[in-house]
Amino acid sequence: MREELLRIEKLSKLFTLGLFFKRQVWALREVSFEVKRGEIFALVGESGSGKSTAGKVILRLEKPTSGSLLFEGKDPFRLGKEYTSLVSAVFQDPRASLNPRMKVRDILEEPLLVHGEKDRREKAVRALQKAGLDVNFLERKPENLSGGQRQRVAIARAIVLNPKLLVADEPTSSLDMSYRAGILELFSKLKGEGISTLLITHDLRAVERIGDRVGVLYRGRLVEVGPATDVLKKPLHPYTQYLVSTMPVRHPSLRREYGEDFSEDFEALCPFFSRCKQRLKECEEGVKEVRIDGRVVSCNLY
Ligand SMILES: Nc1ncnc2c1ncn2[C@@H]1O[C@H](COP(=O)(O)OP(=O)(O)O)[C@@H](O)[C@H]1O
Ligand SMILES: [Mg+2]
Repeated sequence: MREELLRIEKLSKLFTLGLFFKRQVWALREVSFEVKRGEIFALVGESGSGKSTAGKVILRLEKPTSGSLLFEGKDPFRLGKEYTSLVSAVFQDPRASLNPRMKVRDILEEPLLVHGEKDRREKAVRALQKAGLDVNFLERKPENLSGGQRQRVAIARAIVLNPKLLVADEPTSSLDMSYRAGILELFSKLKGEGISTLLITHDLRAVERIGDRVGVLYRGRLVEVGPATDVLKKPLHPYTQYLVSTMPVRHPSLRREYGEDFSEDFEALCPFFSRCKQRLKECEEGVKEVRIDGRVVSCNLY
C-alpha cells in the first residue's frame, strides 16, 4: 500500500454568478479522494464537470466552500509559501503560462529566487535535464521553441523546487499529437523520481497510458474512483460506462447510446439520474456509495 500524500474529504465549491440575478453553480459537491505518494491520479470528466476547480483548490487558487483538504496531514490554507514548493502547477498552454521573451534560465531561476534557494544555476540545469532538455536550452526563449519543448520548460519550472505533487491541468491538450505521448511519458518518469501527479484530463487515452488510479467527475460529483485499468476495462458507474463507450475504437463492445439530458433542474442526488438508462426506482430517493474491489462507486446498481 502506498502512503497517502493528499486527502480530499467532502470538498464542495459553490460559485455565485451575476450581480442582480444571482445564479449559483456547484462546481464540486462533496468530492472525496486521495493521491498517494508516487502515483499518477487522473481526474476525468467532460467539460464543466469541476476538474479545474478541484485543481485550483488544491493549488490554493480557490477556497473551498466546505469540506477539507489535507496535504501530508496538514491544511494547505494554514501553510505558508513552503506549500508552493511542495505542490506546483503545469497548465494547459505553455504559451500562456511562460513569458515568451524571458530566457529559460530566468524562468527556471525565478521560483528559486522567490524561495531564497542557493545554487540556482545547478538546480535549473538539473530540472531542465529531468524534463528532457539539455543545458543549451537555458539561453533560449519560449518564443523560439516547439510546443513540446515549451511544455517541457513549464514542467522543468514546476519541478525546480523538488515538489511532491504536480497538478497538471490538461497538460497535453494544447499540443500537437506528435508531442503528447512524450509529455505523458515524462510524468511517468517523474513518478519514478518520487513526484506524484494529479493529471486533470478529458482524455481517457492519457489515463490508459499513464494513470495509476482514476476518479470520474460528473457535474461536480465524483461518481467512481479506482485503479485506472479496472475502471477503463470494466466501468461500473453508468456514466463511466458512457464515457468509456465514447472512447475511440478501443472498447467498441462497451459502446452505448445515451440521450441528452432532459431535466437540467432536477436536484437528484445522482448527477446522472436524468440520463441513466439503468436507473432504479430507489435512485429518486438518493444514491449509495459502494466499495467494490478497491473501487468506490456512487450507484444503486451495486
Ligand atoms: N470562477 C468561476 N466563477 C463562476 N463559475 C465558475 C468559475 N470557475 C468554474 N465555474 C463553473 O464551475 C463548473 C466547473 O468548471 P471547471 O472546474 O472549470 O470544469 P472543467 O475543468 O471540468 O471543465 C462550471 O459550471 C463552470 O462554469
Ligand atoms: Mg478545465
